[in-house]
Amino acid sequence: MTEHVSIADRGNGVRLVTLDRPQKKNALTGAMYDAMRTALEEADAAPSIRAVVFAGQPGMFSAGNDLSDFLARSGAGFSETPALRFIRQLARTETPMVAAVDGIAVGIGATLTLHCDLVYASPAARLRMPFVELGLVPEAASSYLLPLRVGRLKATEILLLSEMLDADAAFGLGLVNAVIPSDMLVEHALSQAGRLAALPPGALAASRRLIRGDRDRVEAALEAEARAFDAQLRSPEAQERLNAFLSRSRPA
Ligand code: COA
Repeated sequence: MTEHVSIADRGNGVRLVTLDRPQKKNALTGAMYDAMRTALEEADAAPSIRAVVFAGQPGMFSAGNDLSDFLARSGAGFSETPALRFIRQLARTETPMVAAVDGIAVGIGATLTLHCDLVYASPAARLRMPFVELGLVPEAASSYLLPLRVGRLKATEILLLSEMLDADAAFGLGLVNAVIPSDMLVEHALSQAGRLAALPPGALAASRRLIRGDRDRVEAALEAEARAFDAQLRSPEAQERLNAFLSRSRPA
């Protein structure tokens, strides 16, 4: 489907989804979103896949949505994009998800971790959600999930002021389960996913639903965000910011 996402199923019921576009810091294209969504859909459909691990490359989990893609879509908007279809799938996935975050995790690279059941980070992890800085609005239900996790005031710093979180800060806020040395990170995430995969599936699924709370509210939040995102993406201020990054110039 795309050479930029690799999928490996382990014998113990764990599926490893690895982002592999290092020349663009693992920025996500439509084809990559489609591959990730399909990986989750297949996991839910196959009883043999009992946990999914997301990983990136050394020093980079993901730089978020490909910004040139955003710019190309600004006329058509955000509705029914591969990104939105992936986000919807993230919220509805029943298979436990684990993230192994090494290095940069920007935009959806950070917000996807809010949907994961366990999150591990290397000391080099840097999480950032600079939507507003880019003239956009939060996505992936982060405007709902992040305040729930860290409180509204801290969420305001992260989502409005685009505050960057290093590994210790993310751990301190409860956004990360543990900080693990880079060379052991993916193995640790796989091992924890293996523990989830070995649990009785019925008890795991029922407990997971209880822990995660009201899915309707998560879905309502991500749809409301998508409408606002769609409007902002067409705005001159977003165009200016996205162009500024891609041309490396400063906005006026
Ligand atoms: N979309 C498209 N291309 C991206 C990208 C993105 N989100 N993030 C990085 N790239 C590209 C750069 O344009 C550059 O391409 P080039 O070599 O053809 O010029 C390449 O990846 C390397 O990026 P660079 O900025 O040189 O690396 P860095 O280590 O100095 O900085 C980041 C890494 C992630 C801090 C920086 O690239 C960045 O801020 N990216 C944008 C992140 C973002 O805003 N994401 C969307 C949030 S909604």
